[in-house]
Amino acid sequence: MTSGSRRKIKVAVNGLGTIGKRVADAILLQPDMELVGVSAHTNNYRIQSAHLLRKVPIYTYSYRRRNQTYENMHQENTQAAIDDMQKILDLPFGERRVATDKVISRINDLNAHLAPRDFDENVQKFKEQGIELAGGIDDLLEACDVVVDCTPKPYGKINKPMYQSFRKKAIYQGGEKANVGDVSFVAQANFEQAVGKDHVRVVSCNTTGLVRVLHAIHQRYRMVLATATLIRRGTDSNDHKEGPINAIIPSLEAPSHHGPDVRSVMPDIDVFSSAYVVPTTLMHVHDLQINMRDQTDVEGVLDALRATRRVRVIPSSAKMISTAQIMDFARDLGQNSRGDMMDICVWEQTVGIYNRHGHNKLFVKMAVHQESDVIPENIDAIRAVTGFADGAASMDLTDRTLNLNKDSGFYRFVDAKSSGWSLRE
Ligand SMILES: NC(=O)c1ccc[n+]([C@@H]2O[C@H](COP(=O)([O-])OP(=O)(O)OC[C@H]3O[C@@H](n4cnc5c(N)ncnc54)[C@H](OP(=O)(O)O)[C@@H]3O)[C@@H](O)[C@H]2O)c1
Repeated sequence: MTSGSRRKIKVAVNGLGTIGKRVADAILLQPDMELVGVSAHTNNYRIQSAHLLRKVPIYTYSYRRRNQTYENMHQENTQAAIDDMQKILDLPFGERRVATDKVISRINDLNAHLAPRDFDENVQKFKEQGIELAGGIDDLLEACDVVVDCTPKPYGKINKPMYQSFRKKAIYQGGEKANVGDVSFVAQANFEQAVGKDHVRVVSCNTTGLVRVLHAIHQRYRMVLATATLIRRGTDSNDHKEGPINAIIPSLEAPSHHGPDVRSVMPDIDVFSSAYVVPTTLMHVHDLQINMRDQTDVEGVLDALRATRRVRVIPSSAKMISTAQIMDFARDLGQNSRGDMMDICVWEQTVGIYNRHGHNKLFVKMAVHQESDVIPENIDAIRAVTGFADGAASMDLTDRTLNLNKDSGFYRFVDAKSSGWSLRE
């Protein structure tokens, strides 16, 4: 793909938090994309960095003009919420309060999006704080070809009718339920399924990591069942409100939602997952135990992982034995200004086979930088929805612009071979 071969894709980002600000920065690096602007839900340091340091146009979250189509859609959605309210009467008495609160909050959310409201007030407020707004959310949506929704769940779903009313293609994030999109997406597993679609959901950080690694293994060996135990970070590094500070929280659902979510991208493999939340902000760690159908060897698995884009095999020689050291290494690498690690990091010496007593089990441990691994997927999803059909070319360009290039000397250096383990009869 050459950058001059097509008109630049005009992209808007709605929601400038952990994911949104990284997606915005990645768009700025793409030769075939133009960041037309981002929405400001409130004014804060992220908005100020985007506007004052990166010169990105900011649009307020309220409407400048009324939008009749959107308002009609909202009326229908509000009516559906009211209908749900009727059903509450059929619930046992003790469950009615919680169900009522849910519907009320849903109606409030819907109404909160029924603009125009506060537009002039917002323009004035931002101006007093040094930011000249470029317009309302309606102006932002009119200006773009594709909007990347990076709001917290369930606002992606709530915003969907707004995008539809402007006839815009939209990318959603993994906090949303799978049915928000026409397809759930991890570029190297199913790029082609997103080509030309209107609504695509980039799966969560955990699911992205699982799919990258399982897909790489699945390309070479057949599996019977992958069991994944996820040790999840409590919250992101900028968050001072969430926890836990001193607890380990097991997921009480079995499987946790991650296994089924992997199957939303790779329906032909069987995955079971369980999860724990722990007091750390740096990364997630996944412990995979995979019952293999095919005879599997450690070097074959490591070769497959080494050859897979957006996966990094950490050699034992690096003596990088914790998530703290991986993130320190990411800052040393300097692939991007934040010290993000967009590759899924597999510890080489954790890759092993146990095939005594008739078992044929593959073990892999890996780390996932939750704040950034989905950023390349968002960029590829933007190209896919606009009809760009060459997945490999898109991923090559994304990887080159984000410095994730497997051909770089550094990858060769860290990929120096030394083996995992194998226990045989
Ligand atoms: N963080 C992760 O580790 C991670 C990883 C992968 C995927 N995801 C998914 O990505 C999505 C976004 O997560 P995040 O962690 O980036 O969230 P976040 O850091 O909380 O940021 C959310 C952003 O959306 C804005 N916002 C809040 N309510 C909004 C609304 N009603 N309408 C428009 N904008 C609104 C917020 O603005 P204000 O700050 O002004 O309120 C903030 O800029 C979620 O689906 C999440 O599950 C998150």
